[in-house]
Amino acid sequence: MRKKIVAGNWKMNLDYQQGISLFSEIVNMANDEVIGEQGIVICAPFIHLHGLAQLAGSRSRVAVGGQNIYFQETGAYTGEISASQLKSTGATYVILGHSERRAYFHEDDNQLSRKVDAALKHGLIPIFCIGETQDERESDRYFDVIRTQLEEGIFHLADGDFGDVVLAYEPVWAIGTGLTATPEQAQEVHAFIRNEVANHYNQNVANSTTILYGGSCNPKNAPELFAQPDIDGGLIGGASLKSRDFIDIAKVFNR
Ligand code: PGA
Repeated sequence: MRKKIVAGNWKMNLDYQQGISLFSEIVNMANDEVIGEQGIVICAPFIHLHGLAQLAGSRSRVAVGGQNIYFQETGAYTGEISASQLKSTGATYVILGHSERRAYFHEDDNQLSRKVDAALKHGLIPIFCIGETQDERESDRYFDVIRTQLEEGIFHLADGDFGDVVLAYEPVWAIGTGLTATPEQAQEVHAFIRNEVANHYNQNVANSTTILYGGSCNPKNAPELFAQPDIDGGLIGGASLKSRDFIDIAKVFNR
């Protein structure tokens, strides 16, 4: 069976001390309350990563991830962080292609495909985000948009490498807006994505690909979303800043 994952995306929130304190709460609650095989990941700003990874240590079931990397290995790229630098903090995951990075920092599919390569080369698991805008949904172009994001951003990988990737479907119109996709809307796209993976690779690869849903996911709507056959967990923004809410979402897979 494919892996179930609940990943938090703290975005640009929390100073160092606040991050350490929230993460400690999450680790303690996860150790006490989360039973099952579900993976739990916190994707934090760069400043937190080493501290969080130290706190998590080898005892905790909570993994740590970044929210971006640059694709170059090293050199004169002021302000950027490479995959190997991220990895050296103890982080094991990295979100790539989040719609906020695509929109505000003009990251395109070509850059993202290079970031995916850099992440895999250094042993980081990419959480690769795809999803349509409201306009693209309303004009019924969402399947095309998502197909292009897959083809240009990640389908260049060989089967073996693709097996290390986690996908996240995040409809842009649902992120931070309180407008969650209905379970049926999300399932429709997740099934489409899995089918695209089967067409490009094969059915075995498709069956083992973890596909997360993201966009205003909370403890109330998570059970119905995660009950869909092609939804394997969530990428959680706002609700990951509250330990109780985040753990309650992770516990959906306890049942
Ligand atoms: P949200 O964000 O849960 O606050 O909508 C999700 C995300 O952007 O990953």
